[in-house]
Amino acid sequence: MMIYLDNSATSFPKPAGLTAEMGDCMERYCGNPGRSGHDMSMLTGEKVYRARKTVAEIFHITDPSRLVFTKNTTESLNMAFMGLLQDGDHVVTTSMEHNSVLRPLEYLRAKGVSHTIVDGSSEGYVNAEDIEAAITEDTRLVAVTGASNVTGTIQPLDEIGRICARHQIPFLVDAAQLAGCSEIDVEKLGISLLAFPGHKGLLGPLGTGCLYVDPAIQLQPLLYGGTGTESRSRIQPQEFPEGYEAGTVNAPGIIGLGYAVRMLRKVGIETVELYERELIGYFDEMIQNMDFIDLYGPVPEGKTGISLFNVRGVECEEVAAQLNKDYGIAVRSGYHCAGLAHKTIGTWDTGAVRLSVGPFNTRRDLRAAAEAIWKIGKRRR
Ligand code: ALA
Repeated sequence: MMIYLDNSATSFPKPAGLTAEMGDCMERYCGNPGRSGHDMSMLTGEKVYRARKTVAEIFHITDPSRLVFTKNTTESLNMAFMGLLQDGDHVVTTSMEHNSVLRPLEYLRAKGVSHTIVDGSSEGYVNAEDIEAAITEDTRLVAVTGASNVTGTIQPLDEIGRICARHQIPFLVDAAQLAGCSEIDVEKLGISLLAFPGHKGLLGPLGTGCLYVDPAIQLQPLLYGGTGTESRSRIQPQEFPEGYEAGTVNAPGIIGLGYAVRMLRKVGIETVELYERELIGYFDEMIQNMDFIDLYGPVPEGKTGISLFNVRGVECEEVAAQLNKDYGIAVRSGYHCAGLAHKTIGTWDTGAVRLSVGPFNTRRDLRAAAEAIWKIGKRRR
């Protein structure tokens, strides 16, 4: 069994009972929800609704129908960008974004949608005042990652939310690294669109994601097709959520996600947050004192459970490969689909090794990782 420290890519393991919940659905009742009137379809529909309500509750979303299920955060972000932005619109975003934000915006440039990238600091922090300064009269959206997937740096969402409210501009948060790892209240933070995965901090299965859309936001659907409603019309219905979930949904995955979130709530997101912060602080402290380590991002406060580092003289891919092969430790190295974030913090030429903890990790896992890094560092030429 590996020591899994790649929870920012996807969390592992999943809560006990998750596969049984999904298996029960697949083996006992998995009809197509919202399509037919028979008992199996209805039961699946009820379970999907229960999952929607459960997930909505943890983000303080009052109307669960505004929570759309997708297959991942990338799809959620595309749904927001493509559904909202038009020729002539301007977007403010940051240099700490994942390619799932930057690539759609680059694509939209050809459609007449411009954007401004606000630079983060060398630790990955984005100043809310810089966001405000980048707003123009054409700004139609501010899009910010809640926490960087490279450094874990948590952005000042409350301040940015207040700025967006003052300027009456929708506020989109990419919560890929924050959902389930830290409390998010869409009302308090003034979030209009929240994109997040089911399979990372929420501990659900891969293939699940969500987009919350504030009732004040008008969005064109990303996908057009069957919704189980108004079947005689060739016009796409735009009722939430079904108008935005064309085609058959991943019911076993969504039901699994609902189960995972119920388990997470039993422990409490705040408890998980404190635990992960303690674990990553413990790890950072151990490697910080090794004279061949370069450690990036904020240390120890102001970030999620990520440690980003390099072993001087050993390429990051080589460190990750050795951790995998010689020590059975799973981490992710390279550029993490966020080249600009690496440029921002000064690792454009090297990339870096990212170690990311989850609620099932222990101090013993982190000690084993630190010892392995010590050995790799000492062996280098
Ligand atoms: N975006 C995920 C990561 O940071 C996959 O690894």
